[in-house]
Amino acid sequence: MQVDLSTTIAGVQLDSYLMNASGPKCTTWDELEIVAQSASAAVVTKSCTIEFREGNPEPRYSDLPLGSIPSMGLPNLGYKAYLEMVPKLKALGKPVVVSISGFSIEDNIEMVSAFQKSDVDLIEVNFSCPNIPGKAQVAYDFEQVECALKALTVLGDKPIGIKLAPYFDMSHFIAMANILKKFPVKFITCVNSIGNTLIIDPVTESPIIKPKGGFGGLCGDYIKPIGLANVRAFRELLTDDIQIIGVGGIKNGVDAFEYLLAGADAVQIATCFEKEGANCFERIENELAAFMANKGYKKLSDAKGKLKPL
Ligand code: DHB
Repeated sequence: MQVDLSTTIAGVQLDSYLMNASGPKCTTWDELEIVAQSASAAVVTKSCTIEFREGNPEPRYSDLPLGSIPSMGLPNLGYKAYLEMVPKLKALGKPVVVSISGFSIEDNIEMVSAFQKSDVDLIEVNFSCPNIPGKAQVAYDFEQVECALKALTVLGDKPIGIKLAPYFDMSHFIAMANILKKFPVKFITCVNSIGNTLIIDPVTESPIIKPKGGFGGLCGDYIKPIGLANVRAFRELLTDDIQIIGVGGIKNGVDAFEYLLAGADAVQIATCFEKEGANCFERIENELAAFMANKGYKKLSDAKGKLKPL
């Protein structure tokens, strides 16, 4: 039995439920071309800044048994390079999602304005990079989020979404949902990595990555329950005009299905893509389709948000 895994985000048609996350292997043209040629439903770029960035000192990434701990520090080509790539990326035939991560509201206004005039399909504003020394995550500063959204949602008609940090208290889900409802935000992407986690190597008696004294963003299996809870909480608090892209620990079709039950409209893959490469999109898509077919589901909406209460 065929299962239809197509979806839409803010009116943009996606041929499947899965795409890459802004994060691994989406910084250079060559990397983005590989994403475009894979089964990823869209091409999502690495979060960009006003200027080119080398990123944090190495070692700045480590695989972990159940995930990874990156502290890359936003290495990227600078937004103008991605702006120039947009026509070439679009020519590869998939929706293009640009991720921007300015260091101030002014930076983000400059970048959103520029991409509003481009041919990108969606703009994801990253409010949750934990890995810049001395810079707090905007997503944890509710007043700043509100100021930023006021400025960023009036710059053009292209759909804007925001990439959120993981929240851990109901009061924070409620506070953020109430802010989101005030603005024409079209989607949220949740969750980013859990910032400022520490992995220690007991043999060397040192952290395993160098930046920020070893503090990095925890990714992968470790964070799946947190990603699921964030998607679920926001799905219950927001109205349907704000869609949700789930991220966090998806490495097989069953993980993707769990995010669907929680209410995700699409999902993004980061650590699994980093570890396995671009074949992961087709594999997970096939696994999701097989799992849903086995349950008799024919399309995403048969299960989307339909977590059954105990
Ligand atoms: C980086 C990590 C993030 O979680 C993020 O949202 C943006 C950038 C990084 O270290 O490059």
